[in-house]
Amino acid sequence: MRTIWTRWDLGILSVLLVFIMVNGAAAQQVTFTKDVAPVLQEKCQVCHRPGTFAPMSLLTYEEARPWAKAIREKVLAREMPPWHIDKNVGVRHFKNDRSLSDEQIATIVKWVDGGALRGNPADMPPPREFEDQDKWHITPDLIVELPKDIIVPAKWPDRWIDVEVNPGLTEDRYIQAIETKPTKGFRVVHHAVTSMKHDDDPPGDTRVTAQGTFLNEYALGKNADVFPDGAARLMKAGTKINFNLHLHAIGQETAANVALGLKFYPKGYVPKFVEISEHAGDQPDLDIPANTNDVRSEGYTTLTKPARILSFQPHMHNRGKAQCMEAIYPGGRKVETLSCVSNYQFAWHLVYLYAEDEQPLLPAGTTLHVVSWHNNSASNRFNPDPDNLVTFGQRTIDDMAFAWISYYYLSDEEYKQQLEERKAKQQKPTAGN
Ligand code: HEC
Repeated sequence: MRTIWTRWDLGILSVLLVFIMVNGAAAQQVTFTKDVAPVLQEKCQVCHRPGTFAPMSLLTYEEARPWAKAIREKVLAREMPPWHIDKNVGVRHFKNDRSLSDEQIATIVKWVDGGALRGNPADMPPPREFEDQDKWHITPDLIVELPKDIIVPAKWPDRWIDVEVNPGLTEDRYIQAIETKPTKGFRVVHHAVTSMKHDDDPPGDTRVTAQGTFLNEYALGKNADVFPDGAARLMKAGTKINFNLHLHAIGQETAANVALGLKFYPKGYVPKFVEISEHAGDQPDLDIPANTNDVRSEGYTTLTKPARILSFQPHMHNRGKAQCMEAIYPGGRKVETLSCVSNYQFAWHLVYLYAEDEQPLLPAGTTLHVVSWHNNSASNRFNPDPDNLVTFGQRTIDDMAFAWISYYYLSDEEYKQQLEERKAKQQKPTAGN
C-alpha cells in the first residue's frame, strides 16, 4: 500500500478542490432565473402581472429588477404576499395559505443582497399559465349579479361600496358550493365580499353589521368554497345578498360588475353539518382615544354546544392593528390561543381557513375570547384623522372589534368521536417516516 502522495495524486486533488469550491460558490449565488423566478411564479404573479390592480408586473427579470429593494422589504416584513396571520401561534396550517416559507424569504433576501443578478437565461422556468378570469370553478344553479355596472372613474380614492340584491329565493336551500368573482372590470376590483341578509336577522342587534352575515369572498387567484360532503350553509327563502366591494381606480374609466354563483344540494336534502358564520367576541363599547396607539379591547362569546371551528377572520375598520382569539375551556381549566393576526391591514380582507387536521374541536361551554388592538395615531397609514375620538359604528371611519368565525355545531357523540379520530391521527406516524 502506498503511503506517499505522488505529484499526480496531488494534481488531481487540487483540481477537485477548485471544482468543489467553484461549485460551492455557484450554489450560494442566488440568481433570478434559477431561484427567484419560481418563487414569484408560485406566490406573486397571480396578482403581479399585466392587467390586474397590483401596482407592477413581476413576470420577467426586467420587470422585477427595479423593485428588488421594495420586494426585499415587503417579504421580510411579511406584508407581501398579503397573509397577515402569525404562523407561529395557535393553528399553523391553512387551506388557503399563500405566504412564503422561511426558505423562500431567505432566497429573495440573498438574491437582493447579492446584487439581484439575472443568472443563466437557460435556467428560467417556462412562464406560468393563468386561467381565464371568466371561468367558474363550480356549476352554479343560481348566479346573482349586480343589477347595473359600477363605473369607476380614471382617478378616484379607493372606495368601499355596498350593493344589496334580492335574488328572489322562494324556498330554503342548502348551499353546497359558493364562488364570487368579477364578471367585468376585474382590474379595478381589489376584493368583493358577499353576505346574506334576512328580515329575521335580529333588528338593532349590534352583532349584525350593515352587510349581514358573511358568506364568501373574492380575491385574485381564489377559487370556489366547496363544502365537504354532508356539510352545507342554509340560505333561507327571502334572503338578500349584500356585495361589499373594494374598488381601486386604475387611470382609465372602467365598468365593473361582480357575480355570486351558488350550487345547491338537491331540494329536500338534509345535511349532517350546517356551517354557521357568526361574530365572536364583539365589543360594542369601543372607546379609542385620539392620537393613541395600541388601544386594547376585549369580547367574549360562549359556545352553547361542542363545535368544530373552520375559519377565522378579524373584523376591524381603519384603525384596526392586531387581533388574537383564544379558547377558554369550561371552568377555565385550559386556555389555548387559536390565532393571532399581528399585522392587520385594513385594505386586505383575508379569511384564514384552518387545515382539516387542525380545526379546533371545542367542548360545549368554551368561551372564545377575542382581543383587538387599534392604532388611532398618525403612524397608521389608513387613519383618516388621528385627532378624532373613535367609537363603535357602521361607517369605516367608526370602528369595530370582533372576529368572523365559521363553525359546525357537533352532538356530544360526534364531538367525542372526532376528538378520538384526531388523537389517533396524531399518534400514528405519517407515511414515509
Ligand atoms: C393577492 C394579490 C397579491 C399577491 C399574491 C402579492 N401581491 Fe404584492 N401587492 C399587491 C397589491 C394590490 C399591492 C399594492 C399595495 C396594497 O394594496 O397593499 C402590492 C404591493 C407590492 C409591493 C409594493 C409596491 C410599491 O408600490 O411600493 C411589493 C414590493 C410587492 N407587492 C411585492 C410582492 C411580492 C414579492 C409578492 C410575492 C412574494 C407579492 N407582492 C404578492 C397584490 C399582491
